[in-house]
Amino acid sequence: MSKKTDFTRRRALGLMGAAAGVGAVAGFTPTKFAIGQQAKVRIGTLLPYSGTYARLGEAITNAMVMRFAQGKDMLGGREIELIRLDSEAAPPKATENTSKLVNSEKVDFLVGPVHSGVAMAMAKIAREEGVMTVIPNAGADQITGPLCAPNIFRSSFSNWQPGYPMGRVLAEEGKKRVVTCYWNYGAGQQSAQGFKDGYADGLKETGGDGEIVKEIGVPFPDVEFQSVLSEIAALKPDAVYTFFAGGGAVKFVKDWAAAGLKDSGIELTGAGFLTEGVTEAQGEAAEGIRTTLHYADTLDNPVNQVFRRNYREMWGKEADVYAVQGYDAAELIRIGLEAVDGDMGARGEMVAAMENAVIDSPRGPLKLSAAHNPVQNFYLRKVTNGVNAVERIAVEALSAPSQGCSMG
Ligand code: BEZ
Repeated sequence: MSKKTDFTRRRALGLMGAAAGVGAVAGFTPTKFAIGQQAKVRIGTLLPYSGTYARLGEAITNAMVMRFAQGKDMLGGREIELIRLDSEAAPPKATENTSKLVNSEKVDFLVGPVHSGVAMAMAKIAREEGVMTVIPNAGADQITGPLCAPNIFRSSFSNWQPGYPMGRVLAEEGKKRVVTCYWNYGAGQQSAQGFKDGYADGLKETGGDGEIVKEIGVPFPDVEFQSVLSEIAALKPDAVYTFFAGGGAVKFVKDWAAAGLKDSGIELTGAGFLTEGVTEAQGEAAEGIRTTLHYADTLDNPVNQVFRRNYREMWGKEADVYAVQGYDAAELIRIGLEAVDGDMGARGEMVAAMENAVIDSPRGPLKLSAAHNPVQNFYLRKVTNGVNAVERIAVEALSAPSQGCSMG
């Protein structure tokens, strides 16, 4: 049966079912709107609009709003409504907040979160309730690993991904003594694991030797870095790999420079979040910092150039990776809804369209793995005149390990 015929039949039967007070009819789900008066598509964002990750949530939301506005706020023939909820990047509040969106607000799509701890709670409800979900940042490896599900997609990365290429780069460059330093929760730990795996692979391939001399965890969202910086200065490693983002990244980079470490011969590196969206706030302290990420301001492709110009015109600020991930989350939803002419009941077709999407992303053409996680290039970038500029591709088309993922 063609998609169109199937949809028309489903719509007609759905209306009959509603008239007769019937719920689900065998083999299809009735649509929940009447012809000519289609209900809005409700998209609930659970993102941080306050706290250390607030600027990440804002960039994701801005770019989604921009993408939807480009389609006149219509998807698959239905108007869109955004329902925003502040996650506060607080895992203890995540279950209640997610359930508010799913059960009280009755959203059709969940979009969020930024924080991996929030993602773990959100994904549990998304799996139980079967709500269509797009994660526009949080990298919790489990969600595209053992906790993967047909209704959960990610437009960002898994935490392991941005760390792995930085490990390879430092090993290939012969850095022998390395310290890892990160916010000590799932994202920081998994990011450091990615780095260590890349470092080990890089050493193996080059036949070099090297060691991780110390791993330093800082409680999230603490920004008291003095004792950590003293410890690093005393250890005198060749390089430090870090995971900090948002307000914490601003503070870490400024404190690093203020402690005199910028000219100490110890190289400060990290997952790209260290300098992403925050170089203006970091100022001179950020200059020269190298990181790896799936995006860079200077990526030379027409989609990126247009995206950055539109974002600047609409929001009066520069786009960053969080904006890219929000834009692509909106695009994934667009692809899903348009494939089924706005019929949320046509779940199988919607999921298939999203799984097979090739998104023309500002980061380059974007495809998803079987676990619904982006397969993407990772760039070595260097802050140059306040911009995260591409140095080279560090690892091409990197897929995250997704052991334990079964979509069954
Ligand atoms: C996370 O918690 O997964 C995360 C937060 C900020 C930046 C990157 C990852």
